[in-house]
Amino acid sequence: MHFLNLRARPHLLLAIVIALPTLAAGLLVSCSSLDRMVIAPPAVEGATFVGNKACFQCHSNYTRVFAASPHARLHFEGSNVPEMTGCESCHGPGSRHVQAGGGRGRFIVNPGKDPAACFGCHMETHAQFNLPQHHPLPEGKMNCVQCHDPHGMNIMKPAHGLAMARQNETCSQCHREQSRPFVYEHEALREGCTVCHSPHGSINAKMLVQRDNNLCLKCHAQNQGPTPGLGTGHIFIGKEDHTAHLRLGTCWSAGCHTAVHGSNVHPHQFY
Ligand code: HEC
Ligand code: HEC
Ligand code: HEC
Ligand code: HEC
Ligand code: HEC
Ligand code: HEC
Ligand code: HEC
Repeated sequence: MHFLNLRARPHLLLAIVIALPTLAAGLLVSCSSLDRMVIAPPAVEGATFVGNKACFQCHSNYTRVFAASPHARLHFEGSNVPEMTGCESCHGPGSRHVQAGGGRGRFIVNPGKDPAACFGCHMETHAQFNLPQHHPLPEGKMNCVQCHDPHGMNIMKPAHGLAMARQNETCSQCHREQSRPFVYEHEALREGCTVCHSPHGSINAKMLVQRDNNLCLKCHAQNQGPTPGLGTGHIFIGKEDHTAHLRLGTCWSAGCHTAVHGSNVHPHQFY
């Protein structure tokens, strides 16, 4: 097991030090946040860390942007290399790959083919992909790189993608129906698909962040006060009396606002 220190990220170093006693006790920590992550780079039998410079010799195309990646500053204590070992945090120690003159499948891990290399450190992400509703990545039908660029300066963009300005465009590569322009757009989508969906996985159907009307009510206030002429107990959302509607099911089921992503026929998100 290796531990890292993140230069110029003192708060993270501190967090990892805090996590150490748990590790020493041999417990599997289910991380509640990234700040308490376990650092376990993939292993390559018989190989040792050589540092980023050794990789740049042959893979110079990564030098320009990699410095801005959140993984660039990873450094493993015990690597005996004074410089950064960010490349090897995902690809495993590279000495044998370098000695062999490089090559595909030669003593190096390619996490595009197997996300296990990422899960070694991102345990919370691993747990999310194990939830009942998830993107089919554990099934081998997708990989992290389709949404995250591991080498670029913005890891929240997909690799090999166009210059994508917004997160929704990452999703729209595969989900055109939900992200196309609508005559009556739902402004919620301007905040990104993730205001309603957990991108890795969720316990709720359709990977929703919440299963019930609270999904919508976090933005659309519900007023339940005495109403002139109606008395008490009437629930208003917007200017509409929703008292009867809310008994029928969620806002988007029961034939109501079924066009949650936008509508071409009705401003109130109906089909
Ligand atoms: C002596 C040159 C050389 C050095 C040094 C080198 N590589 Fe490579 N590497 C190669 C070549 C050549 C390939 C094959 C690329 C191809 O076919 O396009 C390769 C392939 C790879 C692959 C793809 C493997 C696969 O199975 O798909 C990865 C990942 C990789 N290198 C990472 C690294 C890392 C990380 C370092 C630094 C520790 C490094 N390389 C150092 C020459 C090198
Ligand atoms: C966050 C993890 C991560 C880091 C850090 C990282 N890589 Fe990668 N690397 C990947 C993934 C994932 C793939 C597979 C990409 C794909 O399939 O499109 C990959 C693929 C590669 C390949 C093979 C590309 C090909 O043509 O198939 C090379 C070479 C490589 N990386 C070198 C490097 C070098 C050099 C560094 C450091 C500058 C580095 N990587 C840092 C995750 C990482
Ligand atoms: C050796 C441990 C390690 C491995 C392996 C690793 N990461 Fe990371 N990752 C980190 C650390 C540490 C951070 C920085 C956390 C921070 O800045 O709060 C990070 C940050 C990230 C972030 C940004 C998180 C944020 O909140 O901005 C993403 C996305 C990410 N990693 C994806 C990946 C993917 C995809 C892979 C596999 C291709 C991978 N990581 C492999 C340790 C690792
Ligand atoms: C379907 C697209 C998609 C796939 C596939 C995906 N991610 Fe993400 N990931 C995202 C989005 C979008 C966010 C930002 C979440 C947010 O802003 O709420 C994110 C956030 C993250 C973060 C930051 C912490 C967090 O959960 O917000 C990490 C770490 C991460 N992803 C790692 C990974 C790893 C590792 C893989 C592969 C095993 C992966 N992701 C696959 C879309 C994806
Ligand atoms: C590389 C393609 C790809 C990308 C990018 C992608 N998805 Fe998906 N998505 C899929 C696949 C494949 C499924 C599984 C479809 C199925 O099982 O029928 C899926 C399923 C879903 C589902 C559940 C659909 C259902 O009927 O249960 C939701 C919601 C979803 N994705 C949202 C997102 C969001 C939000 C993003 C961006 C953060 C995103 N996706 C990015 C390919 C992708
Ligand atoms: C305001 C909340 C909200 C936002 C924002 C949102 N969705 Fe959804 N999405 C939902 C709800 C609710 C469902 C379930 C609809 C149902 O079961 O009929 C859903 C269902 C889906 C499905 C399953 C197929 C379908 O249409 O029922 C996909 C795929 C999907 N969303 C992708 C996306 C993408 C991609 C984005 C961003 C462009 C996005 N969603 C933004 C609420 C949202
Ligand atoms: C991130 C915040 C957000 C979330 C979550 C959200 N909305 Fe919206 N919604 C808006 C905004 C902003 C508008 C435009 C301003 C307005 O009409 O209130 C809007 C407009 C609407 C409208 C049109 C209102 C009108 O009078 O024309 C309907 C209907 C609607 N949303 C339904 C939903 C449903 C159903 C959900 C849950 C699936 C939901 N919204 C979740 C932000 C959100």
